Amino acid sequence: MKIAFFDAKPYDLPAFGRYAKEYGAEIKFYETKLNIDTANLAEGYDAVCVFVNDDVNSAVIDKLYSLGVKLIALRSAGYNNVDVKHAFKKIHVVHVPSYSPYAVAEHAMALLLTSVRRTHKAYIRTKDFNFSLNGLTGFDLHGKTVGVIGTGKIGGIFMNICRGFGMNVVAYDKFPSGDAHYVSLDELFVKSDVISLHCPLNEDTYHLIDKAAIEKMKKGVIIVNTSRGALIDAEALLAGIKEKKVGAACLDVYEEESDVFFHDFSGHIMSDDVLARLISMPNVIVTSHQAFLTEEALSNIAETTLKNISSFFNNDGICENELCYRCGNVERCQKDRKDRCF
Ligand code: NAI
Repeated sequence: MKIAFFDAKPYDLPAFGRYAKEYGAEIKFYETKLNIDTANLAEGYDAVCVFVNDDVNSAVIDKLYSLGVKLIALRSAGYNNVDVKHAFKKIHVVHVPSYSPYAVAEHAMALLLTSVRRTHKAYIRTKDFNFSLNGLTGFDLHGKTVGVIGTGKIGGIFMNICRGFGMNVVAYDKFPSGDAHYVSLDELFVKSDVISLHCPLNEDTYHLIDKAAIEKMKKGVIIVNTSRGALIDAEALLAGIKEKKVGAACLDVYEEESDVFFHDFSGHIMSDDVLARLISMPNVIVTSHQAFLTEEALSNIAETTLKNISSFFNNDGICENELCYRCGNVERCQKDRKDRCF
């Protein structure tokens, strides 16, 4: 199994190196992202391994197909950056449905706590021997209402964490199935002091939080997004913050993150005005898509990715984590997991 691994980072190498040996795979690590300009690098490889900001659009898929690549192995849960529909009947796509939902849910709570208790500001102050408390007043999460959008693996754990804090939890999910007090999306917007996003990015959820949604929210609402950037219309969020309608935003993801996140731009002029303005706000915390980044998650990602690839190549193309488009709905796939998509 020869794998071309795109957008490789130093923290990927130890776990992938370990599991590559175990599964007998040969991996070529490329620092560059996969896109139409770099797709040629996959020539001679059986599979490509991609992450959230690799752009696997229809043109890239056609190119990979022409090069004889058999498998696109996402090392992430979300797959909005891969045109799975276009890949159908050409190249199989597998992903890592769950590697540590705790990592992401805990990061969402870490951002929320940082925001409401101003620990990011206190840290900088005391480093400078400034022990003043002025401007650090926060509020109790206990008794506040949190609205959770998407109650799958991560949303479910986040709801439990919030319950542990004594928060009232309301939830919205297009396919409600968890143990939650489900309400309509509008009711969630109206009732919530904190709104946390845990649904996938797709046609339904693109700009789920836009100007109209923000208008329905409570004044001072805190918005937490550890899911995908384009769930939020970033310009509408910025306007909401400037108008003081939105009390704070905790963002691990950003709509236009792909050219910025994971890189060191210190010392450079930031060309994205919306991101620069958001970061300049005292009530906005941005982390660069790091919610997944724990030892446990990295190890699970590497193990499941290699297992997926091994299963595909050694088990007649059958992989339980295949993203199947056969019935036209990847989300609600009815495929027998002992079968291949095509
Ligand atoms: P999941 O598949 O277990 O749960 C997603 C939930 O969203 C499901 O309950 C589903 O019914 C619901 N949903 C689907 N369409 C919806 C809609 N239109 N409106 C409301 N809810 C809808 O996924 P999981 O593992 O909980 O991950 C959630 C998201 O977290 C992923 O899609 C991914 O974008 C993001 N993520 C972010 C990471 C990070 O490092 N920041 C790491 C891993 C995942």
